[in-house]
Amino acid sequence: MAKTNIDIKNITKENLKILIDKKSIENRVASIANQINEIYVEKNPIILCVLNGAFIFYADLVRHLNIDFEVDFIKLSSYGSSMESSGTIRMIKDVSANIAGRDVIIVEDIIDTGLTINYLRKRMIDGQSKSVSFVTCLLKDRKKYHFDFKIDCIGFKIPDKFVIGYGLDLDQRFRGLKNIYTIK
Ligand code: IMP
Ligand code: MG
Repeated sequence: MAKTNIDIKNITKENLKILIDKKSIENRVASIANQINEIYVEKNPIILCVLNGAFIFYADLVRHLNIDFEVDFIKLSSYGSSMESSGTIRMIKDVSANIAGRDVIIVEDIIDTGLTINYLRKRMIDGQSKSVSFVTCLLKDRKKYHFDFKIDCIGFKIPDKFVIGYGLDLDQRFRGLKNIYTIK
């Protein structure tokens, strides 16, 4: 992502601009859930939430499901308190379930460099999951990503800008906002 000179501590709601509104998010989440309902009918996937950022998208998504599923959570960190990926992924909390032989759906808030999903896919392969698919609310439009497999479901493709709200934070702030915003 392009470097910026803004001091992140000084950013307030006045500096934010809506990129995707609440209603558009709600509609898209419902249609993603319908796809999952069709693909996983008569299966019992483990739906894995990538903490922290995906927690609101995840909760909204699973509410629309009418299939059997199990929930689980994994916590990774790559951004620290900055607006750019550090390039290294830290595992803060591993998946709790035994994923061997299971269908796993990984739910992410956003794919930026792709380092995180690449790491997650390796973790699922090491754990011998039966299948792994990726659902992400947002995908940043970049020239180059650090993964070379297909993303099964993308909510919205967005420009390569830092975004917040709907679970996404800037140094742990703004996660509770209902719309998704860029910084002006
Ligand atoms: P990646 O490993 O570079 O693909 O980044 C993945 C993680 O970084 C995401 O799951 C987010 O938690 C965080 N992230 C990436 N871009 C943004 C952003 O624009 N706003 C807030 N968090 C972001
Ligand atoms: Mg995330």
